[in-house]
Amino acid sequence: MISSGAEEQTKLETSKQEIFAATVAHYLAPIKKYLDNTRVAEVMVNKFDEIYVEMDGKMSKVPEVFPDRDAYAAAVNNILQFTGKSLYDEASLIDARLPDGSRVHVAKEPCSRFGMAMTIRKFSKSMLDIDWLVHIGSLTDQICEYLRIAVNAEANVLVAGGTSSGKTSLLNALSSYIPNTSRIVVIEDSSELQLQQDHVISMETKPPDRYGRGHVGIRELFRSSLRLRPDRIVIGEVRGGEALDMIQAMTSGHGGSMGTLHANNPYDALNRLETMALMSKVELPLYALRSQAASAIDVIVQMTRHMSGARVCSAIAEVLPIGEDGNYHLQDVFRMERMEDETGKHMQLKWTGVRSILAKRLKFEHEEMVTELTAPVFGLEGDGEEPHMEESPDDA
Ligand SMILES: Nc1ncnc2c1ncn2[C@@H]1O[C@H](COP(=O)(O)OP(=O)(O)OP(=O)(O)O)[C@@H](O)[C@H]1O
Ligand SMILES: [Mg+2]
Repeated sequence: MISSGAEEQTKLETSKQEIFAATVAHYLAPIKKYLDNTRVAEVMVNKFDEIYVEMDGKMSKVPEVFPDRDAYAAAVNNILQFTGKSLYDEASLIDARLPDGSRVHVAKEPCSRFGMAMTIRKFSKSMLDIDWLVHIGSLTDQICEYLRIAVNAEANVLVAGGTSSGKTSLLNALSSYIPNTSRIVVIEDSSELQLQQDHVISMETKPPDRYGRGHVGIRELFRSSLRLRPDRIVIGEVRGGEALDMIQAMTSGHGGSMGTLHANNPYDALNRLETMALMSKVELPLYALRSQAASAIDVIVQMTRHMSGARVCSAIAEVLPIGEDGNYHLQDVFRMERMEDETGKHMQLKWTGVRSILAKRLKFEHEEMVTELTAPVFGLEGDGEEPHMEESPDDA
């Protein structure tokens, strides 16, 4: 029987992937056991004889080494070849992928001053789900219910945090609260999110070819996504001029959108968003930009990575309209507090006692989701305080 062109193509792709997997396993033999270990999240090669791994959230140096510089260079080149690149191209910073989807980043001289550095962020087949995040203490049941109601009530949510603080994992878990009736467009630099809904379009940026042509960035994808008629947009990480497009989309019919951003606290998140929006080179008075940003973002979830390797939600703040002073105003709805009980002293994320500003937009179906856990937060029991303006650090 003569197989169709499509079948031939699939066979070719499969055998290419198999060869790739086999050669990578050969060249990466010194670190293969860490790549195969599900407890390892990241493998970092600083030099051929200096390798670190992050296992169970903790970083440590491992005894394995590549035999010499050439063996290390051959291993890196092998990975790159299969993504159509070469170690000997001009680019000093190169992104690639392993056959299982793991992200590889290579920095070579002269950008990396003491030789070539490579990191492999392993692709996790099963992303952490909300129940697991509660189980390991990153979230509480009360916060999950609050977030579920916020997402259903079409609040726009930003997940903020430092490097590797669990932003993407939380975003993925949060996305499970989006109703299956929504048409969702996901935009990412390199695909990590795994949405479970039926109606999802996933977009990924495209790096330039070796001549610097054909680059498609997050901002271009974002603009295109608006023409794909999404109800909600999920953006893996906001890092540039797309911030302005996102702010404008969030305030014009794409409520319930979400994304992550690198920031150390919720105020910092708004300031970074503003700085990135200014990178878009669109002339907009600062007051107008701030007021749009404040009305676009409803909730900021702050993630923090502890020295122990644990990642926890350390605060949840709601964004109030900007004040007459032109500054952002936030109210902490949940905040870390020092607790002492029979298990000893520890920090716990607790409701601060303020009433959520989302209360006024809850419809009947959202109110039905409210249990005694969040009834006070949404003021449905009448014992929460009115939202109050907190001073921004700039005012202090
Ligand atoms: N709540 C959590 N508890 C423990 N480990 C977690 C938690 N969330 C994420 N992780 C692990 O931490 C690592 C980084 O997670 P993730 O990619 O979500 O962080 P990130 O903040 O998005 O990182 P980046 O700054 O690179 O974008 C992954 O290995 C992930 O499995
Ligand atoms: Mg991330």
